[in-house]
Amino acid sequence: MTSLILGQTLAFTADPFATDLTDAVVHHRHGAVAVEDGRIVATGPADRLRADYPGAKVTDHGQNLILPGFVDAHVHYPQTAIIASWGKRLIDWLNTYTFPEEARFGDPAYAGEIANRYLDLALAHGTTSACSFATIHPASVDAVFEAAATRDMAIWAGKTCMDRNAPDTLRDTAQSAYDDSAALLSKWHGAGRARYVITPRFAPTSTPDQLSALGALWSENPDCMMQTHLSEQTDEIAWVRDLFPDARDYLDTYETHGLLGERGLYGHSIHLTDREKDRLSDVGAAVIHCPTSNTFIGSGLFDMGMTARMRVGLATDTGGGSSFSMLRTMAAAYEVAQLRGTALHPAQLLYLATEGSARALMADDIGRLTPGAMADLVVLDLASTDAIAQRQAQADDLWEAVFPTIMMGDDRAVAQTYVAGRPMKSGLSRSG
Ligand code: GUN
Ligand code: ZN
Repeated sequence: MTSLILGQTLAFTADPFATDLTDAVVHHRHGAVAVEDGRIVATGPADRLRADYPGAKVTDHGQNLILPGFVDAHVHYPQTAIIASWGKRLIDWLNTYTFPEEARFGDPAYAGEIANRYLDLALAHGTTSACSFATIHPASVDAVFEAAATRDMAIWAGKTCMDRNAPDTLRDTAQSAYDDSAALLSKWHGAGRARYVITPRFAPTSTPDQLSALGALWSENPDCMMQTHLSEQTDEIAWVRDLFPDARDYLDTYETHGLLGERGLYGHSIHLTDREKDRLSDVGAAVIHCPTSNTFIGSGLFDMGMTARMRVGLATDTGGGSSFSMLRTMAAAYEVAQLRGTALHPAQLLYLATEGSARALMADDIGRLTPGAMADLVVLDLASTDAIAQRQAQADDLWEAVFPTIMMGDDRAVAQTYVAGRPMKSGLSRSG
């Protein structure tokens, strides 16, 4: 059975950071996405697809904009309930708010409750895939993969490993981090849409032995992603220098323990030296831009120039980030780039939130509105509030029509979210 989802459609045919916009984007004012068995089988003008699939079940979203579902490349689902906690910078914020909350995930029932809550919030905001840190508790990894499986969502996640500089209840060891991660990896990696991610939290909370153990696990499982944090705040970088006096720089603490590679995801990556940028670029690693977190915790201004040299993903960093919304996250990315003298085009922002993040995760079947990709979609109402509608009414082209929703939109702009072709929001969608 074919489904046809109608609306405005916007698809990327090339990276808008590397290609002229007119060659990078295909827009249909009356477009359609044809879906069979959870995958996109065709996209194009609605009239043509209606003729090609005469028996299809049709859902018409009118003037609403159909995009690939947002891909959030760095979140901490266990921090859902402490998002927007006041007044601290990174290390104090971890000790005051994060670690006490993460300690609660020793209770599998609580882990299950928050995993389900997080995924419901993500879907309500148009996010169909995320790459998440769990806590040190293996049950926190089971919880998020089980919750994702009930929704058929593609989720990346891993047990957060820490064997020093964390409370007793949140510490593992080099050996148990290896053993637990290996067991979770063999249980979940490739089970349905689940992907396991090897997850040392960051250099300050792992001994060199633990970093080496996880580096060994990664070399034994080279098709897994590895995620961690890198050069987020200057105090943190000074601490890393004290803890690893022989390291050339922060990235070197990962590299010397087998934790630098093409499938590495380095969250924040703000205060990098030229050598660090060169090494990340040499190995083809991905950096993840977390702009609401970087302003909220006071970390610094990410250098978007890195898009010319390496894969860059976009992320909320829930709950160091101050929003579950990838729209709000695109707005923050725009504002941060403005502070560094660059105006990111709406197409570049949308690319980062979809295909850019998917490429960071090395996933080729999400984040794209193209035949063969999974039908994970977000449908945006470009006039979701009076404030946005009155601005959008003045728009002369698609980009002027979309940009107010990027800058001012939230979950009210999400008319529908589809996962594998299945609508995830109840009620009728507005057709603007
Ligand atoms: N660095 C190490 N852990 C964390 C975390 O949970 N959030 C953020 N923003 N940075 C970190
Ligand atoms: Zn993080």
